[in-house]
Amino acid sequence: MASSPISPATQLGSSRSATMLAMMSRGMFVKPARTSHQMVRKEKIGLRIACQATSIPAENVPDMEKRKLLNLLLVGALSLPTGFMLVPYATFFAPPGSGGEGGGTPAKDALGNDVIAAEWLKTHGAGDRTLTQGLKGDPTYLVVENDKTLATYGINAVCTHLGCVVPWNKAENKFLCPCHGSQYNAQGRVVRGPAPLSLALAHADIDDGGKVVFVPWVETDFRTGDAPWWS
Ligand code: FES
Repeated sequence: MASSPISPATQLGSSRSATMLAMMSRGMFVKPARTSHQMVRKEKIGLRIACQATSIPAENVPDMEKRKLLNLLLVGALSLPTGFMLVPYATFFAPPGSGGEGGGTPAKDALGNDVIAAEWLKTHGAGDRTLTQGLKGDPTYLVVENDKTLATYGINAVCTHLGCVVPWNKAENKFLCPCHGSQYNAQGRVVRGPAPLSLALAHADIDDGGKVVFVPWVETDFRTGDAPWWS
């Protein structure tokens, strides 16, 4: 079979392609300069865009007062729910105040209800010592005196040795710590170690509504005559 003759044009084309390939492989390919025709076309496009921007009818341009009003409405609509979310979040980090009237904390019973003195005395007899929630959430005994009135002091139940909650033992008329055997008398004064100190005191006041309110005890400890170690 006879081979077909290669035309000069084909030879020229193939040699140009080969030359360009060689230049590209050596990084010698140069991007052709932008023609003046292309530049003029781009300028025309830019001009047309500019013309479009200025061709919006005046009645379609939003009024600045309306924009301000919409912005205000938007800010108002967002700030309300944001405020509702932020306030409880911020109060979570605020340290609990002493609460109650006059810097006191209402005593809470085992169910978390405020202790009403009159109601309490109906169900707690003379000599009773029952735990309530006191200052800073500490377990605190409410004391019923022998004349069936509430004592004006509460006894913090946290042992001064290593912090166990000390139960009241009615049969022994003492607070007996189950952890290391410390003992306190009926008013919380330490009578046997290793606890080094008596149980802390708090005032147990009754407010105008009849609620029992604990108030920090900063005066002399009436059991020992000493300054209060807890304040
Ligand atoms: S914690 Fe009460 S005696 Fe140790």
